[in-house]
Amino acid sequence: MNLNPPLIIASGPGGNGEYLKLINPEYIGAYTLKTVTLNPKKGNLPPRMRDKEHFVINSIGLENPGINHFIENIEKYKLNVKTILSLGGDTKEEYIKIAEIIDPYAQYFEAIEFNFSCPNVKKGGLSIISDKDEWEEILKKVRKILPNTFLIAKLSIEGNFVETSSQIVAKHNWEGITLINCVRGLIIENGKVITGGISGPILKPISLRAIYETRKKLKDIYIIASGGIYTEKDADEFLEIGANAISIGSALFKDPNVVEKIGKYLKGVKK
Ligand SMILES: Cc1cc2nc3c(=O)[nH]c(=O)nc-3n(C[C@H](O)[C@H](O)[C@H](O)COP(=O)(O)O)c2cc1C
Repeated sequence: MNLNPPLIIASGPGGNGEYLKLINPEYIGAYTLKTVTLNPKKGNLPPRMRDKEHFVINSIGLENPGINHFIENIEKYKLNVKTILSLGGDTKEEYIKIAEIIDPYAQYFEAIEFNFSCPNVKKGGLSIISDKDEWEEILKKVRKILPNTFLIAKLSIEGNFVETSSQIVAKHNWEGITLINCVRGLIIENGKVITGGISGPILKPISLRAIYETRKKLKDIYIIASGGIYTEKDADEFLEIGANAISIGSALFKDPNVVEKIGKYLKGVKK
């Protein structure tokens, strides 16, 4: 991908383009839509998100209208910036099926990111990579179904060493990886246990390490950094350690101007 600036709106926090009302598109390299699954998902019961001092904890649970509804309304999802589609599933069969369904529409998107790392669903998500053979079959079959699409695997640090998972993605000739998705976490509020995915500043050193280890093993794969990017300095650090582009998620909740600030700073930076 050739993004100018190398700044991407992360899947989820950016919704399906809503932030374009608040941010000058000139400062966005690409916008990732919220993950779509084969079947509609209602998501988890509220409350689904808490914004703490150093992190956000969420348990959205991949709420989305399903791929058929998405396709029927595809005109609505065409944004005035390069767009990355994010797809997910509960099972191997669902990942393969959704790839087949999207195939005729793949050219509308700059890239397709497959979410192999949602921490907030009972099936699929993060657990999909725990069976290595099944996961490899998904990677192999999706590559075959979408031979001309820029394919990105979004990974977490759980389930495997992330650099090992990344090598598996590269082995199947996928072009990119996004590192990292939220990490499973837990808080206690008034004696009540609340579980969810952790994002925000606390994730930054973990994500930096994931990218550092992966880049040592894979010189050519396109790496999108995700995790705690809030400032120009954060962006610089990720690009120095080996990322090709940075993505912004939780920072959007604090202040959408962060995107414009970092985007202006990165405009013209070639990675
Ligand atoms: C409320 C919320 C919803 C999210 N939804 C998705 C999603 O649908 N698909 C996905 O791949 N990642 C999702 N994520 C993960 C983000 O894209 C991002 O990888 C993660 O939050 C780490 O980056 P950040 O610290 O900049 O937020 C979500 C994160 C949050 C906070």
